[in-house]
Amino acid sequence: MGATGIAADDIMGIRFLLNGKPRDVVTSPTTTLLDWLREEAGLCGTKEGCNEGDCGACTIMVSRPGPDGRMEHRALNACILFMPQLQGAAVRTVEGIAGPDGTLHPVQEAMIAHHASQCGFCTPGFVVSMAVAHANGVRADDDTLAGNLCRCTGYAPIIRAAEAAAGAPVPEWMTVDAGALTTPGGGGKPVAGAFLPGSEDELAAWYAGNPGATLVAGATDVGLWVTKQLRRIGPLAFVAGAADMRYIRIEGGEVHVGAASTLSDLHAFMAGQHPDFAELIRRYGSVQVRNAATIGGNIANGSPIGDGPPALIALGATLHLRHGDRRRSLPLEDFFLDYGVQDRAPGELVTGLSFPLQPDRLRCYKLSKRFDQDISAVCGAFNLEIEGDEVTEARIAFGGMAATPRRAVATEAALRGAPWSDETIRRAQAALEEDFAPISDMRASAAYRREAARGMLTRLYAETRLGTGFTRILEVQP
Ligand SMILES: Cc1cc2nc3c(=O)[nH]c(=O)nc-3n(C[C@H](O)[C@H](O)[C@H](O)COP(=O)(O)OP(=O)(O)OC[C@H]3O[C@@H](n4cnc5c(N)ncnc54)[C@H](O)[C@@H]3O)c2cc1C
Ligand code: FES
Ligand code: FES
Repeated sequence: MGATGIAADDIMGIRFLLNGKPRDVVTSPTTTLLDWLREEAGLCGTKEGCNEGDCGACTIMVSRPGPDGRMEHRALNACILFMPQLQGAAVRTVEGIAGPDGTLHPVQEAMIAHHASQCGFCTPGFVVSMAVAHANGVRADDDTLAGNLCRCTGYAPIIRAAEAAAGAPVPEWMTVDAGALTTPGGGGKPVAGAFLPGSEDELAAWYAGNPGATLVAGATDVGLWVTKQLRRIGPLAFVAGAADMRYIRIEGGEVHVGAASTLSDLHAFMAGQHPDFAELIRRYGSVQVRNAATIGGNIANGSPIGDGPPALIALGATLHLRHGDRRRSLPLEDFFLDYGVQDRAPGELVTGLSFPLQPDRLRCYKLSKRFDQDISAVCGAFNLEIEGDEVTEARIAFGGMAATPRRAVATEAALRGAPWSDETIRRAQAALEEDFAPISDMRASAAYRREAARGMLTRLYAETRLGTGFTRILEVQP
């Protein structure tokens, strides 16, 4: 261990590096990093806008070794990040983005040169998001900044600043944390009153013995229970310490995904496997949300409008659960019993899911009021095998059409064995009425949802008939 290192044997509280310096913190496990930075650490550069993961004013950089041992830099929202989630990580706030001698980071220089700040409230969040993308060599500026909101400057100067900074080398002070981090996880020790498991085995044993506890994975849902609903929750176990629950691998003709894999992990994998699923994930929250949110949390929360389940059900996914040493598996669609009710016993953990490796036929459509960072009104996923002109197999699932993510059984039956034709699509659209009786809520009316689902079938048919050009034409329409 060097002078700034964190060693495994002497963890007493939450230990992490803050802007390059080690910190030992004892605090309530539901204290957010944002509150701690502003109220305890006196670092007020990180701003509070929405306090619910939507605006990016609180963006900070968190670095730690990833599953492949290489250092990962992630932009995260500090407002919905609990302190124990930082165990063994390196955190950089906007105060640590400039060099120790005050030298500005290239993105800060560029923000000034391009007049990319007016009131400045959003600026620290933008600067951190841009600095993380810069460190990772990511050039997709629109995606990088979709989770950062600015009300005064307008995005053009900010994007110009990101483009201008892109070619500059990564400053040396942005990379030094890697050498100082020697302990990525909590090693099963109690930290600030919360359980930080070092493995799935430890988590499963602890949770079976504490069935009333709350699991915290990415905290993109649980964080809001605290910041918005002011709920007192506990005892808590933090899934992220169980590093063996974060994997995506192909084995025995199947894809296996650990519950602690983030939506960003899944996005990277799906880009090469099922690109439409990757596109769907690109519209899931923002970079900051996808970097935190796990697929286990997205399934376990049972939301009827979660974006992961419809696509995974259409791929034929099996969900894996574990209670102590007892393991069981079930088709993902059978996990969702009713609104807010899942087939999961107290103390039972979602460990992961698997689905058959298959040729890419998956098509996913997400309809929401805003393109970026918005929850689905309707999300449809279609996995059809078409041989010649006949539909030989169909798996279809929707989110937003019922109290749970649900398979469209009657619609599938109308398609299976039928010619791939206008007439069949009309029959399948009629069958949607048997499958779903959607509700009206603030996102969409029942009539809109019905029409949207029918439209997705029309679009699927048109795309397969006309090729991807049709998609592009649709996307440029106002
Ligand atoms: C700004 C914002 C935008 C969002 N946009 C989207 C979106 O576009 N699409 C979408 O689908 N969702 C969206 N969400 C919702 C949220 O990101 C997802 O539901 C997310 O996947 C939850 O995962 P998590 O790891 O953060 O879960 P957490 O918040 O940590 O946990 C969620 C629930 O799952 C339980 N849980 C977690 N892991 C396990 C496990 N392994 N076993 C058993 N139970 C477990 C927790 O106890 C809790 O009940 C958004 C959220 C925010 C804040
Ligand atoms: S304060 Fe808005 S995302 Fe954190
Ligand atoms: S400069 Fe005012 S919110 Fe962005």
